[in-house]
Amino acid sequence: MKEQISSLKEKFIKALGAATTNYQLEEVRITYLGRKGHIATLMDTLKTLGLEEKKEYGPLLNELKQHIQDQFNAKKHQITVQQQSHAQALKQFFDVTAYIPEADTGSLHPMTQVLHHVQDIFLSMGYEIADGPEVETEYYNFEALNIAKDHPAREMWDTLWLDIPSLLLRTHTSPVQVRALEKKQLPLALVAPGRCYRHEATDASHDFVFMQVEGLLVDKQINLGHLLATIKSFMQTFFEKEKLDIRIRPSYFPFVKPGIEIDIECPFCNHGCSVCKETEWIEACGAGLVHPNVLEFSGIDAKEQTGFAFGFGLTRLAMLKFGINDIRLLHSGNIEFLKQF
Ligand code: DAH
Repeated sequence: MKEQISSLKEKFIKALGAATTNYQLEEVRITYLGRKGHIATLMDTLKTLGLEEKKEYGPLLNELKQHIQDQFNAKKHQITVQQQSHAQALKQFFDVTAYIPEADTGSLHPMTQVLHHVQDIFLSMGYEIADGPEVETEYYNFEALNIAKDHPAREMWDTLWLDIPSLLLRTHTSPVQVRALEKKQLPLALVAPGRCYRHEATDASHDFVFMQVEGLLVDKQINLGHLLATIKSFMQTFFEKEKLDIRIRPSYFPFVKPGIEIDIECPFCNHGCSVCKETEWIEACGAGLVHPNVLEFSGIDAKEQTGFAFGFGLTRLAMLKFGINDIRLLHSGNIEFLKQF
């Protein structure tokens, strides 16, 4: 018994020394002082001994129990104090000059930056942002836009057709016009940025996928003057120019009448440069007054309501703004290229 008592004491000292956390300390407590712990077991053994032995070992065992309890309490106090002072130290010593390894923060893709900029400008003019599906039906992409089946005008758009009949990848954002008109909530003013697809060979300035922005405003007595003022004001804000002239050329798009193309003064030079190919003008967008057929197709009375529409290449605008000379860079995932923005 005597030996058991002294060997238990040694084991306990070791175990207590090794415990550094509250969790480990609790394990030590259960092992030695718990209801089924070593001390309790020895107490049980003591009960089975004769009177003389009880007299001899009883006090020794009680002494051991007390010793273990005291040591345990002291250690618990020590750990608590350590934890508190560690927490205190963390609060007090905050080294603002500490070295932090340089982090790669990343940045928004140039297309995203331009998209946000364009949306902000139109939102500030009271326009809403609209959206439509990239997989479109023939009806929305062509028919409802006054481009009948078998009409040669369809050839203006090199279409990527799906295997499923009448479905295609939209060739322009103009179908969003129809989707908005169908809701018949007039007056309306919206811009619809989005991806478009064309069956085209890729080179530095053409891609089979690119971004356009469609614009549509329908109200009573809308005329070309409203359209031109809108585009001019947008382009001036976008290119951060107080004065930026526009000019118009007649053109043909089946969903507008009259159809025009709008050029802007080259924002990058005074007397010709490589961007405007020495012409001082840059093609900006296709536009016109909404064709009465388009309004009627969506059940809107074209005698009551008029509107203007425009569509421009957002990808092209981004390339102009940032001086990007190869469209393929935009979705190349080239980090060196992207780091510049
Ligand atoms: N959807 C035409 C295209 O992709 C661009 C366009 C021209 C849109 C005239 C319009 C518009 O809204 O009025 O070529």
